[in-house]
Amino acid sequence: MGELSDLRVAVAGLGPMGRGIARVFAQAGAAVVIVDADAETTAAGHAKLLEEADSPIDVTTAASVGDAVREADLFVEAIVEKFEAKQALLAQVRAAGNTGLVVASNTSSLSIGELGRAYGDPSRVVGMHFFNPPTKMRLVEIIRGARTAPDIVERARAWVAGLGKTAVLCADSPNFIVNRVCRPLYYESQLLVTQGVAPAVIDAAVKGALGHRMGPLELLDFTGLHTHLGSSETALREFGDPRYRPIPLTRQLVRAGTTGRAAGRGYYDYSAGKPREAQSAVVRRPAGPEEVTVYRTNTCTPSDVAALRELEGRVALDSSHGGWVEHLPAGVGWVRLHRGGEGLFAEVVADEVAGIEPAYDIADALGAASVPVLALPGLVVDRLGWTMINEASTLVEEQIATAEDIDLALRLGMNHPAGPLERLAEAGPAEVLAGLRGLLECFGDPRYRPAQLLVRQAAGAAR
Ligand code: NAI
Repeated sequence: MGELSDLRVAVAGLGPMGRGIARVFAQAGAAVVIVDADAETTAAGHAKLLEEADSPIDVTTAASVGDAVREADLFVEAIVEKFEAKQALLAQVRAAGNTGLVVASNTSSLSIGELGRAYGDPSRVVGMHFFNPPTKMRLVEIIRGARTAPDIVERARAWVAGLGKTAVLCADSPNFIVNRVCRPLYYESQLLVTQGVAPAVIDAAVKGALGHRMGPLELLDFTGLHTHLGSSETALREFGDPRYRPIPLTRQLVRAGTTGRAAGRGYYDYSAGKPREAQSAVVRRPAGPEEVTVYRTNTCTPSDVAALRELEGRVALDSSHGGWVEHLPAGVGWVRLHRGGEGLFAEVVADEVAGIEPAYDIADALGAASVPVLALPGLVVDRLGWTMINEASTLVEEQIATAEDIDLALRLGMNHPAGPLERLAEAGPAEVLAGLRGLLECFGDPRYRPAQLLVRQAAGAAR
């Protein structure tokens, strides 16, 4: 007997998500009824579901969605991502007359409030956003529409816990938590390509320094650039904020049909090998550490340079701040060091004056794995890190989700070793704010406009 043995669930839509959702409920002991668009697709989905299950499960089929929900406590819809289709389906559910039913949608992009109106009773409609594949991913984002009743949200949370999964709570806002906080990760990595940094370098830096399992460009190729372009256009339309506008390069690649892995080419050329191979080829791995002086600074004024010149031996500047490019003295290597999952990881900067050799020399002496990057503000890693932190701070500021839930969501939904607000606590709001302001000054783009919460936190920390 599983945790949910008293629960009766109806699932509509037997694509990968619906099948996975039906399976996790059945494995937790719930009585599950499934239905697809017609008898034939329902039978095919049922057969596939039984074939995918690693242990025997008991799932029944219904002839119509009305039949499926009549005796159910919970209805989860995972049909195609089209409002009109979901609207028609919800009207059928409503017509079945089960007033005690909780109605959940697995939508990734539609408004729960609008689906609530389509159902006719918004108080009973909630978002239950599972991650792909639902059988493996532990995270479920619970979305409360403006009129969703609090007890419906609580019941959804309790059922998620009964599945052995973790629920995070999110207001009804485009992209919810995980996909919203990751927007700058995708935008900035593509902008860096436009600005001359190779995709393999960007991905290797993110994996080596931030411990992400996949680099952002590899991930974009995997999802499909056309899908990303669509979600960027939606974000721009929904938020009306130019910071979400798509990157011209994405559009260019989509128009050329190079949309990613499925097309054989995107940011990587899949006929030439795996992204992992291209990434290892750009990482330099030295033998072992030696003595080096590392000078950590966020600024580099002429007096900092004077101080540097007094130091003996090999000197490295450990900073990603770009405002001081003109001050870097000859012979001083510019590196940005990160304590990654597998030890020290360095971005070494190809500087106009010093060249790249002094920086490589220092990274090697420190025993740090390294990638070569261009002198751009925030380099690669901090730029991606700061903009994600800024997006996460905006969510907290707008009361879309709590800091704890955002960190949990990124850890579980993206396998990030630390959440963005944990990273903020580590770096300190003043450093992140200074970094964002540096980007804003260099590029003049509202993408880098700091969240007011960050501004207040940095002011508070200074007092
Ligand atoms: P899919 O398009 O592969 O499958 C949809 C299924 O719904 C098909 O079997 C189709 O025959 C069926 N269907 C269409 N109209 C129907 C109707 N009126 N009644 C019953 N069944 C109907 O979709 P997928 O990828 O499984 O996603 C389903 C939902 O989950 C969408 O809302 C999507 O946005 C959301 N989602 C998808 C994720 C993913 O990674 N694929 C992740 C999280 C959410």
